[in-house]
Amino acid sequence: MPAIIVIGAQWGDEGKGKIVDHLAERAKMVVRYQGGNNAGHTVIIGNMVLKLHQVPTGIIRPHVAAVLGNGMVINPPALVEELDMLEGKGISTTNLHISSNAHVVMPYHLMIDELEERLRGARALGTTKRGIGPAYADKAARRGLRMQDLIEPDRFARRATAALEWINLELTSMFGERPLAAEEVIAQYAPAAKRLAPFVTDTSLLINNALKRGENVLFEGAQATMLDIDFGTYPYVTSSSSSAGGACLGAGVSPLMVKEVLGVVKTYTSRVGKGPFPTELADSTGDWIVERGNEYGTTTGRRRRCGWIDLVSLRYAARVNGFTGVALTRLDVLSGLNEIKLCVAYRLADGTITEDYPMNTEVMSGATAVYEAMPGWEDDFSAARHWEELPPNARSYCQRVSDLLGVPIDLISVGAERNDLVGLRWPI
Ligand code: IMP
Repeated sequence: MPAIIVIGAQWGDEGKGKIVDHLAERAKMVVRYQGGNNAGHTVIIGNMVLKLHQVPTGIIRPHVAAVLGNGMVINPPALVEELDMLEGKGISTTNLHISSNAHVVMPYHLMIDELEERLRGARALGTTKRGIGPAYADKAARRGLRMQDLIEPDRFARRATAALEWINLELTSMFGERPLAAEEVIAQYAPAAKRLAPFVTDTSLLINNALKRGENVLFEGAQATMLDIDFGTYPYVTSSSSSAGGACLGAGVSPLMVKEVLGVVKTYTSRVGKGPFPTELADSTGDWIVERGNEYGTTTGRRRRCGWIDLVSLRYAARVNGFTGVALTRLDVLSGLNEIKLCVAYRLADGTITEDYPMNTEVMSGATAVYEAMPGWEDDFSAARHWEELPPNARSYCQRVSDLLGVPIDLISVGAERNDLVGLRWPI
């Protein structure tokens, strides 16, 4: 039962792309199971920087099947653009499979995302404006269009026309916009529909067959635990189940198939968009981390908010996902700091100290960090491939994180390049 789920433990951008790329060497299939092109996974191979948004990272390896699962919301023209980009770089996309049940991000979902954010004003969520929330809202409201509709021109025309009756009411009466013409919307997606049709299939069957054959299948989480619709800092979350449970739902596999859940933990914290962030550094150390870590969004180019590692939220992530191991990323970014802090508890507005993540959003918003400090290190260790080659202070820091989490370390990322990794325990 070699299914392995790889999950971001924080607010996204932990460096999952590189970890999945590394594990994919031993896998036969990599599956995306939620989200859409709000995600941005960067992989650096020599001089080539690949920024993937919808296609699973596994596509880079010729022996790996790349699957877009039923839990995703897919933007067809953007997916075609991504496939063209990959082909242009000499990466074959023939081994791609798209679930016929995945939902389609329609042009009006992008409009509504933008209009809703504007309407929220000061309470805006800071979405990526890729239409993700409105697409999932339509899925739940049972007026969404799926990939199986998109690739059948008559059915697509019929369903898009019906959906637009509703959507146009929303656009005109709620936002004072002009109604959209169904023919134009349909024509806009026709070329992408034709191009993607050969890839659309029953991906749950494909994945289960691979698992039955005993092959390694990786489930590549997008966004992260603290952006999960149920477990994240609601309402400042994305609209899908980005934690481990979402993998089974979004790919059509049984929880009994899952062998490992690998949490990807950045050695500091970053977040784009709004929402509570107790360890945020609004000072020169924060600026230093942003610049040294090049903390600007892959998808939107926005500057990420940065701060110290937060073990309270990480323990919570370990609990709701059931991490069997963690991959610590970007340890090299912290080199050069005199002192490094770890948030070990929260002080709530009423003075209470807690080590448990508060369930109440209002309480969470008033939480401040209680820190433990550790000495930093200076050295450049991107050539390190073994635990013993890391500076002693860096080792102590990683060990302390692992102890506070109660989860062993599987991998440590020590540089931007594909092979800049220290392996402690091979999780496959
Ligand atoms: P949405 O997913 O575009 O609706 O955005 C909702 C929230 O999730 C916003 O705070 C976004 O900045 C955040 N978000 C969505 N996708 C990602 C991601 O891949 N990395 C980090 N943050 C993300």
